[in-house]
Formats: sequence, structure tokens, C-alpha cells
Amino acid sequence: MTRASTRTGAAGAPARRRAAATRAPAPEPAGVVTVRPARRADLDRVIAIDATVTGVEKRSYWLSVFRRYGDGEQPERIFLVADIDGRVAGFIIGEVRDWEFGAPPCGWVFAIDVAPEFRLAGVATRMLDALRAGFRRLGVRKLRTILARDNTLILSFFRSQGMMTGPFIPLEMDLDA
Ligand SMILES: CC(C)(COP(=O)(O)OP(=O)(O)OC[C@H]1O[C@@H](n2cnc3c(N)ncnc32)[C@H](O)[C@@H]1OP(=O)(O)O)[C@@H](O)C(=O)NCCC(=O)NCCS
Repeated sequence: MTRASTRTGAAGAPARRRAAATRAPAPEPAGVVTVRPARRADLDRVIAIDATVTGVEKRSYWLSVFRRYGDGEQPERIFLVADIDGRVAGFIIGEVRDWEFGAPPCGWVFAIDVAPEFRLAGVATRMLDALRAGFRRLGVRKLRTILARDNTLILSFFRSQGMMTGPFIPLEMDLDA
């Protein structure tokens, strides 16, 4: 599985891209960023980061996600964390899905979060790079995701990575009628 290490923020580190003028300056993570497969011991931190972002702690959900994606036994299921000097700074989860919605096999990213104190330092970019590399090794050539229309933060991030509107449209209906 992918392991990619880069030092950021620390003395002698590569210069970080300048944040957009409209954004508040963020603290830079000082230390070595390693993107590696999630371990069971990372789950408490993953749950805490998710709870910070969503406001809901979902321990049983995350246990089942880890069982499905975290054991590394199925290469098409990828659950990675960004580790900065032994601290989990963020996570990303994705999967290759075959022929859903009539589409040839493609890689889906369905969760990405970075803890607020580690943002704007390229952590999510590094995790997405590692996920894409994993998908390429599996032979897929397309990356897809779905996001909430009002989540402009995640939209800005995915756009910055070169993702564009795809050929599918989401539909839904209430089932209680
Ligand atoms: C979106 C998120 C993953 C970005 O993580 P990050 O590590 O800060 O991202 P990066 O530093 O790699 O940023 C890459 C690019 O994304 C864009 N971006 C990131 N944060 C941004 C912000 N606050 N405002 C505008 N653009 C932003 C920028 O283009 C940035 O490039 P730049 O720094 O050169 O301008 C992080 O903010 C997060 O976890 N947000 C909550 C995610 C969420 O809602 N998840 C639930 C749905 S899955």
C-alpha cells in the first residue's frame, strides 16, 4: 500500500504554496507527513476528526467502515491516513466500483477530512495523490465523487485538484408518501 512522506513546515522544508488572500492564515504542520493505510489504533482519532467536521460521533459506523476498508485485504478498498509525527491529521477512503450506474470500473472517493489544525498545508492533496496512485495501480483511469451542493469548502478542494462536473446527475425522492 502507498506510503508517501514529505516534510512540511519544518526548517528546510519546501516552501508551501501561498494561501488565497481571502483565507485566514492557518498554522502549518511542522513535521513529516506520511500517508499510510489506516490501522485499528487510528480509529479514535479518525472518529474525533469526523466528529469535529460533522458534529456527530459515529463510533459504530466507523467500526464497520474499518472492517470493510481497513484490513487492506481487498486492494480495491482503500482507507488511508495522513500521519504527522505519529499524529493522525486526516483520512481518505475510496473504492473501485465496477459497472455501477452503467459505468466501467472507476475509483470513488467517498470520505476525506483533515483536522482543522492541519489544514491549508497540502495534507488533503497528498492523501488524494496517494489514493489516485492506488487506483491507477488497479488499472482504473477515472476518479469520481459526490458532494453536498452547499459544501463549498470540499468543492473548492476537489476543483483545485482538477475535478470537474461529470456526466451523472443525482436524483432522490421521499419514501414516506
Ligand atoms: C477540504 C479539506 C479536505 C482540505 O484539506 P487541506 O489539507 O486543507 O487541503 P490542501 O491544503 O491540500 O488544499 C488544496 C487546495 O484546496 C483548496 N482549498 C483548501 N482549503 C480551502 C479553503 N478553506 N478555501 C478555499 N480553498 C481551499 C485550495 O485550492 C488549496 O490549494 P492552495 O492552498 O494552493 O490554495 C479540509 O478543509 C476538510 O477536511 N474540510 C472538511 C471536509 C468535509 O466537509 N468533509 C465531509 C465531506 S467528505
